[in-house]
Amino acid sequence: MKIAIIGSGYVGLVTGACFAELGNQVICADNDQGKIETLKKGSLPLYEPGLAELIARNLKNKRLQFSSNIKDAVRPSEIIFITVGTPALDNGEADLTGIENVARAIAVNMDGYRLIIEKSTVPVETGDWVRQIIATYIKDKTKFDVASNPEFLREGSAISDFMNPDRIVIGVESKRARDLLTELYKPFKVPLVVTNIKSAELIKHASNAFLAAKISFINAVSRICDTVGADVEEVAKGMGLDKRIGLSFLKAGIGYGGSCFPKDLDAFVNISEKLGYNFNLLKSVRRVNEEQLSFMLKKIKDSLRIIKDKTIGVLGLAFKSNTDDIRNSQAIGLIRMLESEGARIKAYDPQAMNKARDVLSRITFCADAYSAARSSDCLLIATEWDEFKELDFTRVKKLLKRPLIIDGRNLYEPERMGKLGFTYISVGRKSVS
Ligand code: UGA
Repeated sequence: MKIAIIGSGYVGLVTGACFAELGNQVICADNDQGKIETLKKGSLPLYEPGLAELIARNLKNKRLQFSSNIKDAVRPSEIIFITVGTPALDNGEADLTGIENVARAIAVNMDGYRLIIEKSTVPVETGDWVRQIIATYIKDKTKFDVASNPEFLREGSAISDFMNPDRIVIGVESKRARDLLTELYKPFKVPLVVTNIKSAELIKHASNAFLAAKISFINAVSRICDTVGADVEEVAKGMGLDKRIGLSFLKAGIGYGGSCFPKDLDAFVNISEKLGYNFNLLKSVRRVNEEQLSFMLKKIKDSLRIIKDKTIGVLGLAFKSNTDDIRNSQAIGLIRMLESEGARIKAYDPQAMNKARDVLSRITFCADAYSAARSSDCLLIATEWDEFKELDFTRVKKLLKRPLIIDGRNLYEPERMGKLGFTYISVGRKSVS
């Protein structure tokens, strides 16, 4: 099938490359000419495992093309995905300027029937508005449909999430739109959930909000575990093996971050309020997440006593492992708090240091985990990269001024760390020394 992807950011690139890999003819467009030139040369503006190879392969076999002109994408394609960003405004509302601009540009460039699909995460009822914009700017009486097809891929495992989804959700309001999307997703042998557009829009917001709620729930439980000496990992396992609850997204830590959960929760709370519902539950989810940073800061303060002029080695800057994304990273939030208490920070991240340099001007960036540990008063684990799980702890111990590890991701076994001679403080588990 012939597909246009408008917006070559994270979601657009993964979606475009995967549809091309499945044998479709795809053109990814973006108004950032610099980005398009980079992509045409086969370089990537972001880090995502496997994506560079997928793009290179499909550029070579000519199933994937890039253009900075939206017309080049709209003209030959029957199916058009909108994958532009929907960042949060200061009041939490989703900024839909990008969606509006793209909808208008699609309308003026259409020369026949098109199916226009929202893939970006948008508040419920955006589909109606997109339909209105297109109807306003369209030439003649060209026919079109609007649909919603939310994406559920996670950064760091986006390609496998796209290729092996648990379900595919399509929100449609005509047979033609339903048939086209059913045909497009034919290679996937998973449940196809067909709904109206508003339900599909809500499925996305509700799913992200629910996952964030699971994380805040276990983080709240971790506070109780800390107080009474229970182990949150055991509690999560004991709960999660109940199929109704499930094991995933029950990992306690420094809290959730990234470009999706914080923004989508704000937008969901905001749209609910506009629709007359005060979503207090989600406000609490947000509050627990914010408090998780103060809770980590308190752990650091309790063990170092005075933070001012102490050197803290931080492992991890990305909002989670396997990405270079630092948007709303709790690691960065915690570093800022430590800086304002007068700490000196030495940090290392396998992928995110380039991006972090733009937002953290006072910290020392290190070549590896061991340099971050060297002469530091403690080591703070902020992102769950695999390489941090395999450190040479005898070496780390020698390098640190004192053998203190504060682990915001529960990467290590407390008993083992105690035997290795560390004071080890983690989240919702007994401290050892
Ligand atoms: C999230 C959703 O998981 C995807 O389904 C969705 O498509 C995407 O948002 C989106 O809306 O675009 P993502 O933000 O890439 O994906 O990352 P997640 O793996 O969901 O992690 C989000 C945050 O929660 C990270 O900071 C992670 O460290 C944290 N987390 C996750 C926990 O603290 N505990 C957990 O058990 C799981």
